[in-house]
Amino acid sequence: MSKGRDSGMPAVEQWESYFDIAAVLDSLGCPEVTGDVVEFGCGYGTFTIPLARRTAGAVFALDIDRLMVAATSVRASQAGLKNITVEERDFVARGCGRGTGSAGLALLFNILHIEDPVSLLKEARRALRPGGMAAVIHWNYDVRTPRGPPLDIRPRPEQCRAWGEQAGLRWVRDQDLPGSPWHWGMVLEK
Ligand SMILES: C[S@@+](CC[C@H](N)C(=O)[O-])C[C@H]1O[C@@H](n2cnc3c(N)ncnc32)[C@H](O)[C@@H]1O
Repeated sequence: MSKGRDSGMPAVEQWESYFDIAAVLDSLGCPEVTGDVVEFGCGYGTFTIPLARRTAGAVFALDIDRLMVAATSVRASQAGLKNITVEERDFVARGCGRGTGSAGLALLFNILHIEDPVSLLKEARRALRPGGMAAVIHWNYDVRTPRGPPLDIRPRPEQCRAWGEQAGLRWVRDQDLPGSPWHWGMVLEK
């Protein structure tokens, strides 16, 4: 396998101008979740670093792109964070590498437009403990967004909910993301 379709990234400053990063994590309730975190596609570590600062759990940040892995690793070490493990890994081909039921939280941020989202959600579910949370964000289904996958592969919240349920997750809520005008959020649970 290889990188999921349309998963390329712009410059970090541009990417991070699209979100209120702390508010995304807060409104989804990520810092309150206990236990390990698995992040599917960490990119620049945009969400990895702020979350790792605010969780006692270990954060496993996975990405297939070695430039993204390097960027996240540098940020983690500059921040002096010891609870982040960054791994170059194709989670589509190889899974996330975490034990079944080992994680409290799975982050699926800007990734569910890949070719087989249900299999990815199943893998997230496998890694989660019962009651563990899968947090999802994605680009609004709107041509006016400054970036994002083409609309024909960009999932709407209803679609992601259906995929999550197909993967055996329970829908908890849709979540507005204050300060992130181009994105929506969702919480699912094992
Ligand atoms: C659009 S970026 C989002 C990054 C991050 N989640 C965020 O929202 O800031 C998607 C990331 O997923 C990674 N990715 C895509 N397919 C992957 C795969 N099969 N295995 C691991 N990482 C993958 C890409 O390299 C990219 O860094």
